[in-house]
Amino acid sequence: MRAIVFDRPGDVDVLRLEERPTPAPGRGEVRVRVHGSGLNRVDLLQRRGLYPPPKGSPTDVLGVEYAGVIDEVGGNTGLTVGESVMGIVGGGAYAEQIIVPADEVMRAPAGMSLQHAAAVPEAFMTAYDGLFTEGALERGELVLIHAVGSGVGTAALQLANRAGARVIGTSRSADKLSRAKLLGDVDGVVSDAQWPNAVKQLAPEGVDVVIDLVGGAMVRPSLALLRDRGRHVLIGLTAGSTAELDLGRLLSKRLILRGTVLRTRPVAEKILLARAVEQHVVPDLATGRLRPVVDSLVAPSAIREAHQRLERNDTFGKLVIDWTKT
Ligand SMILES: NC(=O)c1ccc[n+]([C@@H]2O[C@H](COP(=O)([O-])OP(=O)(O)OC[C@H]3O[C@@H](n4cnc5c(N)ncnc54)[C@H](OP(=O)(O)O)[C@@H]3O)[C@@H](O)[C@H]2O)c1
Repeated sequence: MRAIVFDRPGDVDVLRLEERPTPAPGRGEVRVRVHGSGLNRVDLLQRRGLYPPPKGSPTDVLGVEYAGVIDEVGGNTGLTVGESVMGIVGGGAYAEQIIVPADEVMRAPAGMSLQHAAAVPEAFMTAYDGLFTEGALERGELVLIHAVGSGVGTAALQLANRAGARVIGTSRSADKLSRAKLLGDVDGVVSDAQWPNAVKQLAPEGVDVVIDLVGGAMVRPSLALLRDRGRHVLIGLTAGSTAELDLGRLLSKRLILRGTVLRTRPVAEKILLARAVEQHVVPDLATGRLRPVVDSLVAPSAIREAHQRLERNDTFGKLVIDWTKT
């Protein structure tokens, strides 16, 4: 099988395509013939040596999400050869075959190509968890999504719309905001120096939930825009990992500032989230009411250019490695 491997941290030139032996599943595991592997920002950090994979995950093969077809089953798992599945893993998804614990896989949406299904797990699991479990979003509330044109942002926009919430989305790019409007009902705000005023005009009473995919200097003004008992869910740190906070505001408005991460959380929690997404999200992905936003499908041999595009932030939605290409 082919895998995209790297053996030292560095720039994109450390990535290379290599033949590897076919792995065999142990008890309770399945082997998946991968059709699509989603790219994520965490892959860029790991490639640079800035984000080690969780214990037990491959260190020389990147990739945290996949979709494909089960081609071997280890023991009695409740899954069968030939089933289309998708999921998140601690690493190793940039490969044509992957071994995963049976409990952690989700059935792929019926009728959706497995390359598109590979764009689902990280984006929709993160967005679903952030909006509803961490953010406790309710019908009729107002949610502010920073980087609404990202993979997670486009999923969060659709899920929030479906839940009957109003959405304001930010991006540094007016073009990404226009594209987000084609996807869902969203008021777009360009995140220039004036963005807090623009949000205030759209939401004079404040917002109920912030889905924050950028962090850094966006945090303080976002807290100021929250209503009493508002929830700020911090998911990404592309704009920086430090921020100055007004603790008085946090206290007096009884705000919640919640950080969250999927990759390093306990397996039991990942399984619960997979089951929730399978039940509450996958059916609407199968009918087309919800859809993963795929910027492009890339050949395994074009992985270096794909990482560079992600680094330049010029993607709208997800990049996916298409293993039917060479
Ligand atoms: N906690 C978790 O478990 C978890 C899981 C999945 C993803 N994430 C994180 O969530 C975020 C979104 O993930 P994704 O895969 O959807 O990302 P993505 O599609 O690559 O989009 C990330 C977006 O962040 C914005 N951005 C980048 N640099 C920025 C900067 N310096 N200042 C402000 N905005 C900046 C850009 O939006 P504009 O160009 O539109 O401004 C960019 O398109 C990432 O930070 C990712 O690491 C976290």
